[in-house]
Amino acid sequence: MPTKPAAKAPADERIEVTLEDLPGVGGTTADKLREAGFTDLMELAVASPGAVAEAADIGLAIAQKIIGEARRRADVGGFESGTMLLERRKKLGRISTNTKSLDELLGGGVETQAITEFAGEFGTGKTQLAHQLAVDVQLPAEQGGLQGEVVYIDTESTFRPERIVDMAKAVGLVPEEALGRIHVARAFNSNHQMLLVAKAQELAREKPVRLLVVDSLTAHFRSEYVGRAELAPRQQLLNKHLHELLRFADTYNAAVVVTNQVSARPDILFGDPTRPIGGNIVAHAATYRLYLRKSKPPRRIARLIDSPNLPEGEAVYSLTTEGVRD
Ligand SMILES: Nc1ncnc2c1ncn2[C@@H]1O[C@H](COP(=O)(O)OP(=O)(O)O)[C@@H](O)[C@H]1O
Ligand SMILES: [Mg+2]
Repeated sequence: MPTKPAAKAPADERIEVTLEDLPGVGGTTADKLREAGFTDLMELAVASPGAVAEAADIGLAIAQKIIGEARRRADVGGFESGTMLLERRKKLGRISTNTKSLDELLGGGVETQAITEFAGEFGTGKTQLAHQLAVDVQLPAEQGGLQGEVVYIDTESTFRPERIVDMAKAVGLVPEEALGRIHVARAFNSNHQMLLVAKAQELAREKPVRLLVVDSLTAHFRSEYVGRAELAPRQQLLNKHLHELLRFADTYNAAVVVTNQVSARPDILFGDPTRPIGGNIVAHAATYRLYLRKSKPPRRIARLIDSPNLPEGEAVYSLTTEGVRD
């Protein structure tokens, strides 16, 4: 996570990718590997090709490939030189929000290789912003886009093709083409939602996916894991999910945009009585967090909270038929 200062990184940074996530590893191979004691990526990463080939009944060349991939994903070594980080950061792209104010607040737009979170109450424009970015990412660079395609994970059934049509027209895209470049999947529960990130990876190998939206990141988790006793497992899964999203952002130089609701804080008497769901886990994983609130309609206000490299600040934007505007 190059964009986060080390001091803020969560203690548990382990990324749990299953063996089946590796290319060339089907269910049978994975079972054989597990039986032989290769239960996670790290074990595979440090294994010898001969041992893996024997355990899984596969050729040496394939075993080597699997190990190579396991090494890549398990982050063996875990160090990147400053020069490499700088090289990677040079490829960083930005997607315009179609508003000067929000773009400025975000240092030029929504960044790739990062997770940007829109948190706020119902009706603050989280879904509209996600739609707007799904359109804008398709534009050429001069117009604030990355000529990319979109994976849109919709957990609340609020994706509206009609809105895309309106917004696409307003920025001069052919609506049917714009819709064709947005790959929408409805997530039925939190498990399915996590599975869809793996599916997104498959898609991103074939298409130039530069934006992955999860709207909403937390809704399923929140409704499935209720009560104090379930908080720990919920946070653990959410952590895993976020790391997979971050990995997607890094691997495909894509922007990841997640939305989040806020919950009431009964303990707060002064100041803002709400806070985003997901607590520290989401706070640590999201590189940019925008806290949205309502103002005089159609206006909304976004506040940037804990960014690693940008000053805190606020921006006003409006929700219009054409999309998000200043
Ligand atoms: N076709 C439209 N024309 C103008 N404004 C719209 C349109 N559709 C939605 N909106 C605005 O967007 C708001 C809903 O925002 P939304 O992004 O769905 O909120 P959230 O996802 O934060 O709950 C509506 O209250 C309205 O102000
Ligand atoms: Mg919404």
